[in-house]
Amino acid sequence: QPGQRYEAESAPAVCDGTIDTNHAGYSGSGFCNGNNAVGAAAQFTVTPAEAGTATVSVRFANGSDTRPANVIVNGTTVATVSFESTGSWSAWSAKSVPVSLNAGSNTIRIAPTTAAGLPNIDYIEV
Ligand code: GCU
Repeated sequence: QPGQRYEAESAPAVCDGTIDTNHAGYSGSGFCNGNNAVGAAAQFTVTPAEAGTATVSVRFANGSDTRPANVIVNGTTVATVSFESTGSWSAWSAKSVPVSLNAGSNTIRIAPTTAAGLPNIDYIEV
């Protein structure tokens, strides 16, 4: 079933870059265009009612080459996701990652591992 949506442009999310609107198809009022640098992240705070495993779906667009990123939950890297090209910056796709969450506040940080930085990030659903 669809999870709760957390937009990259909406606090308490943090984008190490700019919130842009120049590529169509995004949800909400924009997307995170992270700086082209290692570690320039999109960070989300999610607050499930109960602890347990969950699936984090990351909606992104990538008009360039593959841009891998670590998924860091509450400070621990739990996965590395290959955000492949989606063909253009206005073609949006999603990648899913299983995670373990605490009840209450959790940070989910998507941090690129190369100098190309992140793909553009629209939202996560948990
Ligand atoms: C282009 C594109 C941006 C994207 C950037 C990048 O400038 O318009 O949306 O973020 O490339 O390579 O990261």
